[in-house]
Amino acid sequence: MKPFIKIVEKRVEDALKKCGYEDEVTLSVSSRPDLGQFQYNGVMGIAKRLRTNPIEIAKKLVEELNQDEYFTNVNMAGPGFINLSFNNEKLVEYVNLVKDNFDLLVDKKETKNVIVDYGGANAAKALHVGHMRSANIGEALKRLYRLVGHKVIGDVHLGDVGRQAGMVISELKLRHPDWIFFKDNYDGSNPKIDITPADLGEIYPCASNAAKENEERMEEVREITALIDKGYKPYVDLWKQIIEVSSEDIKQVYDILNCDFDLWEGEMDSYKYIDDTIKILNPYLYESEGALVMDVAKEDDKIEIPPLIVIKKDGSTIYATRDLATIYSRMERFSPDEICYVVDNRQGMYFKQVFRSSYKSGLVKESTELNFYGFGTMNGSDGKPFKTRDGGVMELRQLVSMVEDVTYTKLKETIVGDERRELSGKLAIAVLKYADLLPLRNTDYIFDVDKFSSLEGKTGPYILYTAVRINSIFSKLESKKDKYDIKGIYSDEELNIYLKLVELTKTIDAAFNEKTLSYICDYLFNLANLYNKFYSEHNILNEEDENKKETYLALSQLTYSVIEKLLNVLAIDMIDKM
Ligand code: ARG
Repeated sequence: MKPFIKIVEKRVEDALKKCGYEDEVTLSVSSRPDLGQFQYNGVMGIAKRLRTNPIEIAKKLVEELNQDEYFTNVNMAGPGFINLSFNNEKLVEYVNLVKDNFDLLVDKKETKNVIVDYGGANAAKALHVGHMRSANIGEALKRLYRLVGHKVIGDVHLGDVGRQAGMVISELKLRHPDWIFFKDNYDGSNPKIDITPADLGEIYPCASNAAKENEERMEEVREITALIDKGYKPYVDLWKQIIEVSSEDIKQVYDILNCDFDLWEGEMDSYKYIDDTIKILNPYLYESEGALVMDVAKEDDKIEIPPLIVIKKDGSTIYATRDLATIYSRMERFSPDEICYVVDNRQGMYFKQVFRSSYKSGLVKESTELNFYGFGTMNGSDGKPFKTRDGGVMELRQLVSMVEDVTYTKLKETIVGDERRELSGKLAIAVLKYADLLPLRNTDYIFDVDKFSSLEGKTGPYILYTAVRINSIFSKLESKKDKYDIKGIYSDEELNIYLKLVELTKTIDAAFNEKTLSYICDYLFNLANLYNKFYSEHNILNEEDENKKETYLALSQLTYSVIEKLLNVLAIDMIDKM
């Protein structure tokens, strides 16, 4: 069965056909609820194409639709706008089905194989605020793709190659010159080193500061980095151990954010594909100032797209080389229909270059889509990227615990001890994620902990509060049934919730088409508002009419499950009290 909105759109399309016209019908929520619940605005377009009078078409269509049992109160307004309302019985039938099958709200797409590249943490460095949006948006997009029917692999694409490797190893060399990794006669034994994430947290900044102040040290860092790139075994072995330690730590933070990666691969994993990749690119590469580059500009470009550097002048690989080799590997292993990258807008130009060189060289088939889903920055109140009070980079853990301090105070006094800590933790994630996903993907936003953790307005806590409220109705119920049915529509407050559910199909489509979770956040807010309105108008537990009471409970249950499903797409956990 199709979503309700798709069924009724098809019926309008068929009615049009009967009148002798063709159109791909979409219905939208009416801007004049006094005239109808939904409206169809396509008549003017048809009339324009056929150079006829829209009023004539509209009149015929109204007549036709009035005979359809799905619609009531079909009417025409202005130069041919069609307003219509749905038959209550049909609506009730549908929402009863939705109660047991959320998927009836989703217009499923033809299944594609998709890889979502998100997260993008860098090994040996703590996850910081700048990595949060990729994690939140990427995880939610991955879930949204799955919801509409795609097969998705999420890959973290760990940043485990580069200067930080040189930094950490140069520091370890200073501190532990006796380690076998630093001896000329390394025997490949790769003994396990004793190092913790906390050590790394201290070693990296220490090395980085030292290298900044001392050119000789920086030169050593560069040398070590280049040696790892060349595959120098002692350092590669040591570095891989460090990646491991750091990965465990990074995973813990992703876990707190409910991010779950199907693949935990990194730039290092692409090395084995570099030779094959370069073979494919080779016909297009030429030398420029010692480096190997590839032209990717096109004649009709409005802005200049510079050539992509593929191999540096010292012969070493670069971020792009490893992204290209990763694309090669993904094509070979998964033959995806789409690879999408959820990365900061500042890398937009870079990905444009990478994508163009992939298509141009044939690394990727024309039929495989490469998409860049960039995002704006989370800023502080000064409008600049969010920092700690002393102007440093804020670690994600630190941000979460800062928000937890606030959510801790929002809970009921009766919630104490471990439970209070656990719930304030979950609430903090809801605060962060909802606020992060609410703005359109490409826009920047200003972090405001008080606003984001408020129990009112467009916030995670407000949505969760609504769900908790529904929960508490059921906990107060004296006897519980296994199943509650919607028996009829007794008030406008109920009707508005059902119409909202009909609309959800469109909201999910819009979110998916534009790859923004913003619409889902807005929708949740509107649904919660409608429910709370209903709740304040009706005394569910004391309702004497049995049919009404059962309906109210069914409606509450349904609202709860829709909230739960949508929050799950956003990777926000439900809580049962607050
Ligand atoms: N590690 C990178 C960074 O911190 C992000 C990786 C994005 N993904 C990719 N395939 N390049 O900027």
